[in-house]
Amino acid sequence: EKGTYPYYMLKEIDEQPAVMRKLLLKYQDENGKLTVDQEIVDTMLESDRIYIIAAGTSYHAGLVGKQLIESMTHIPTEVHVSSEFGYHTPLLSEKPFFIFISQSGETADSRQVLVKTNALGHPSLTVTNVSGSTLSRESNFTLLLNAGPEIAVASTKAYTAQIAVLAILSEVVGISKGLIKKGTMLHDIGIVANAMQAIVDDKEKIEELAADYLSISRNAFYIGRGMDYHVALEAALKLKEISYIQTEGFAAGELKHGTIALIEEGTPVIALVTEKGVAGHTRGNLQETQARGAHTMVISMDGLNRPGDQIVIPHVNPLLSALVSVIPTQLLSYYCSLHRGNDVDKPRNLAKSVTVE
Ligand code: F6R
Repeated sequence: EKGTYPYYMLKEIDEQPAVMRKLLLKYQDENGKLTVDQEIVDTMLESDRIYIIAAGTSYHAGLVGKQLIESMTHIPTEVHVSSEFGYHTPLLSEKPFFIFISQSGETADSRQVLVKTNALGHPSLTVTNVSGSTLSRESNFTLLLNAGPEIAVASTKAYTAQIAVLAILSEVVGISKGLIKKGTMLHDIGIVANAMQAIVDDKEKIEELAADYLSISRNAFYIGRGMDYHVALEAALKLKEISYIQTEGFAAGELKHGTIALIEEGTPVIALVTEKGVAGHTRGNLQETQARGAHTMVISMDGLNRPGDQIVIPHVNPLLSALVSVIPTQLLSYYCSLHRGNDVDKPRNLAKSVTVE
């Protein structure tokens, strides 16, 4: 039920702080410690490489997941688009472990990969919102998102829940491996929930920015580096699929190698700045677009903010910044689509669950 909300998408954006808190409860043991089925942990520890397989927004969650897994578990991880992997399978390691990320658990592109990895006898985990879904039933293990039904075609709360589950899994494996002495994710994801809440409570400001930056443009860019690049890809997908503005998510440093030719007077370019080591570089790249007429916006994290930044998100563990920086981009997409008079929840040409290859 969407209650007083005009669209499910806005309701689902607003639910994200609660989804984070619920996840923390669901993944806690009786001593209040984050926990994951030991068999999953053991299988991951035995593997020499992790292959994340997903499509669309879930693929973008996988890109963030790779960084979380590698930094906390030191297990090399690859992320693949399912429709490519199934038919152009890369050379596999000796002991691969497959992680399928799928909100619906029904995506045909991902399932055809699972059928193949099952035939090869490789262990697999599905991270999904739907218990009993096809991918969940056909893989060895399942971790549930516990996000509640996601009705809007544009995925929001599933994306953040997928990242949070991968963060919890990574920390539990990292502790098991002796790489992490004392876990902080329980605390850090709690902080994330508060940060998300602060942003959704201030949504009028984002509505104004959407009107100012995106009301008449036909194209737009999101740029960032590292984690911010992964969020730029997701932000761009979200904006294009419901506003129909042609949007690209770009590695900030890569723009100058060709794509900057597309920047014209008034082209919106939105930079994500949450990673200290590359913040200055990303700002420099944004300035290059501004010098060519771009209408620039900065979404930065508290501590890295500078005067004039349009959106400053609260400070969180940098490993988890995607969970927070994505929220203003979801709201920008929502309001842009709303102001253009589109059916926000049911964008043209799209279905919630893609059951054909
Ligand atoms: C975008 C979106 C899609 C899905 C993709 C995979 O907002 O929702 O890109 O993420 O179709 O779907 P699942 O996660 O159900 O496998």
